[in-house]
Amino acid sequence: MATEYSSLFTFFGGTGDLAKRKLYPSLFKLYVRGNLGEHFAVIGTARDSWSDDQFREVVTQSIREDQPDADMHAASVFVTHFYYLAHDVTDKAHYAVMKDLVEKLDEQYSLKGNRIFYLSMAPRFFGEVALNLKSEGLLSEDGSNRLVIEKPFGTDFTTAETLNEQLSGAFEEKQIYRIDHYLGKEMVQNIQALRFGNTLVESLWNNRYIDNVQVTLSEKLGVEDRAGYYDTAGALRDMVQNHIMQIVSQLAMEQPVSFTDSDVRVEKIKALRSLRVYSPAEAAKNFIRGQYGANDTEPAYRDEPNVPKDSANDTFVAGKLLFDNYRWSGVPFYVRTGKRLADKFTRIDVVFKKPLIDIFAFPQNRDNSLAPNVLTIYVEPNSGFSLQLNAKTAGQGFETEPIHLDFQQDVAQKEETPEPYERLLHDTLKGDQTNFASWDEVSYAWKFVDVIQKLWDSETPDFPNYVSGSMGPAASDELLQRDHRSWIYRLNR
Ligand code: NDP
Ligand code: BG6
Repeated sequence: MATEYSSLFTFFGGTGDLAKRKLYPSLFKLYVRGNLGEHFAVIGTARDSWSDDQFREVVTQSIREDQPDADMHAASVFVTHFYYLAHDVTDKAHYAVMKDLVEKLDEQYSLKGNRIFYLSMAPRFFGEVALNLKSEGLLSEDGSNRLVIEKPFGTDFTTAETLNEQLSGAFEEKQIYRIDHYLGKEMVQNIQALRFGNTLVESLWNNRYIDNVQVTLSEKLGVEDRAGYYDTAGALRDMVQNHIMQIVSQLAMEQPVSFTDSDVRVEKIKALRSLRVYSPAEAAKNFIRGQYGANDTEPAYRDEPNVPKDSANDTFVAGKLLFDNYRWSGVPFYVRTGKRLADKFTRIDVVFKKPLIDIFAFPQNRDNSLAPNVLTIYVEPNSGFSLQLNAKTAGQGFETEPIHLDFQQDVAQKEETPEPYERLLHDTLKGDQTNFASWDEVSYAWKFVDVIQKLWDSETPDFPNYVSGSMGPAASDELLQRDHRSWIYRLNR
């Protein structure tokens, strides 16, 4: 039986792409599951003048597009809870009108003063909106006030810190929900179940048994129509600072005292504190960047719409992270991400050390050395795990070969799995911050990334340096070859 929550949602940027594509359809799923019932209302705001009916039609359409099999009768009841308000977030006078509507809906739907303010608009407005919400009396006295903010959270440590100070002027840390949609993914959440629910795994999860860890977030698409944002961000800030650092911190953290948001955060922060922040020379050695060139069918990054012809922006990053702590000392975490790569997938490969002695290394088996055990977590598009072990090849003689124990989620499990935004909206209603980035996590991640970004900003790269449809530049492979290792997932070149 689903728990029903009561709250008012106010979506700033309520006519925007994210709201239409992800947020409204996700709210509808929560409604269908019974997490929302009678006691919720939604205000969508933007500068355009829309009527409530227009707004409701747009929301209905976004549900139809996202869920072609949706119960449209349920959707027609659902959208009666939606209201539109034309509002410029920079105009303080508009907040008085908003306050009236907020209070009216609070009473009409018996919302008990529970308010969720979702900032789904350009990040330059985040601080100002938060401060205005407080100064113009939009925060309730009697219920919960929660602020959800989209990415990016700053463009470096300094801007992130300024933004955080602004937010802290209006909301406490326990009221701030910084979205990282990778934390809403089923298999990213499964990292903790896998580690802390299995003696077999956790007892081997250290530098005695693990040789290296590899995290790959590979995208097939290019920059699409997002050059305005992406050309100033690049893969390092767009994917490494947030999504990759969040995944890595969950792989590296110690077991929390309990599985609560505060205890999990303590351990993630501890892990990030022991991440070695590089000197510029170390950054140059341990991080490489790339930009895609054309192939037969796809244009080079520099020929994409609105990208400057001499852009030095990184569309690919690979790097080595080192944790200076007892568990991980000496174990590199290799990470890579890029656009226009061979395929769209996210996976984590945990590579174990080989047996110290290979007793099967008979002279006739010289070309048949033992493969490492590899535990792979498939995040997307498939959700599952695979464990590579060595077994005897069937037949006469004694050779070994790698075999795989596989678990893939079946169709029924996939259907049960909420979309990241549905899960994160649910957690916000529940008041659970486990799957949101805390300020400390964000700040450590920026401090790590800033050194690399600063170095790259000071040098002109020789771009493009990888072909669309490949797995990135040769330097990505060389990064591991230097350490006598290689990526577990690689294309046959
Ligand atoms: P859009 O550009 O599509 O939407 C921006 C929204 O903000 C519009 O509703 C716009 O309406 C409104 N807006 C702009 N200026 C003002 C203003 N002064 N006062 C009030 N409203 C204003 O952005 P997205 O939906 O794509 O992105 C929103 C946020 O989500 C960003 O932080 C982005 O980084 C993040 N994000 C988006 C993703 C996506 O897939 N789209 C994915 C991950 C994160 P109007 O101009 O009429 O005022
Ligand atoms: C976003 C980035 O945070 O994540 C995009 O801004 C990227 O550039 C996207 O494409 C990838 O998310 P997913 O869920 O499709 O892997």
